[in-house]
Amino acid sequence: MTLDEFKTQCAALAAEAPARVDAAASLDDWTAVRNDLVGRAAGRLTAIMSTLGTLPPEARREAGQLANAVKVEIERLLDARRDALAAAAPSGPRLDRTMPARAAWRGARHPVTLVIDEICGIFRELGFTIALGPEAEHEWYNFGALNFPDDHPAMDMHDTLYLGEGALLRTHTSPVQVRTMQAYPPPIRVLAPGNVYRRDFFDATHAPAFAQLEGLAVDEGISFVDLKATLNEFARRFYGGTRRTRFGPSFFPFTEPSAQMDVEIDLGDGRGTRWVEILGCGMVHPAVLESAGLDSTKYTGWAFGMGPGRIAMSRHGLPDIRLLYDSDVRFLEQFAE
Ligand code: DAH
Repeated sequence: MTLDEFKTQCAALAAEAPARVDAAASLDDWTAVRNDLVGRAAGRLTAIMSTLGTLPPEARREAGQLANAVKVEIERLLDARRDALAAAAPSGPRLDRTMPARAAWRGARHPVTLVIDEICGIFRELGFTIALGPEAEHEWYNFGALNFPDDHPAMDMHDTLYLGEGALLRTHTSPVQVRTMQAYPPPIRVLAPGNVYRRDFFDATHAPAFAQLEGLAVDEGISFVDLKATLNEFARRFYGGTRRTRFGPSFFPFTEPSAQMDVEIDLGDGRGTRWVEILGCGMVHPAVLESAGLDSTKYTGWAFGMGPGRIAMSRHGLPDIRLLYDSDVRFLEQFAE
């Protein structure tokens, strides 16, 4: 081989390289082009350089420098092309379009929500509407207006998170009674569902945050007969017509007299039917009517409060309240309709 022939081969390769490198459309193409142009094993430049030893000794230095310059230039083109391809390629894991899709998820209403919705539906047919109040409540609405004496032991059961400036997380939905009576003139028939908070451990029978459902009826001439008739009708519709109910004495500062209502139900635990307390109730205390601005010589009312979580537990035979408030999808999806 002569120096001229060597130069011609180098020039041909240098002239061809830019178009070849540019044509590489993927990183796989790029690797093939690099192997062909400058690859150590089978590259064309490597083949040209391997002829250096056949040149006259005085030509080898110039030929070597020339071949090396061609190599540097081609590698510069290759580097730039590889960077451009990498920048254009999508980052992250490659999209596998053959992967089977996840089965569609059907959302389900929570078992406690189901109980609340069902009870609200029954009371709606009896002429009740829905009332809502704030979960961050004023102490006066939570206690004072509801006739809790200052520092009364009944408040121990209602220990909660105090938010400062007289605000707290409400311990029951009863404050909505007062807010409703302040906002609307009688006749009042409302149901107030919502979350309440207490300083309780989260164990099988207690939750520090749980749902309550409050009912209130206020008008002229409302008596305990209306309370019993309405709650019996509710129990008949909710539990089925054959269920017996009974009322027993109880105490709440905001009702006088106060009662609890039991329903005879089968909890499905093999022990047959038994009396289960489902709610507290009573005639609205005159002091509560007065704190809401109503004339207690003109108006009377009755109220009740219950825990839809406990009702869901007895309905489904659940042994642990945490099942309801843990939000484990494997449990909750069983209620999908
Ligand atoms: N607020 C009571 C509680 O959380 C429940 C209750 C009892 C509400 C009797 C009432 C009622 O409206 O009449 O323990």
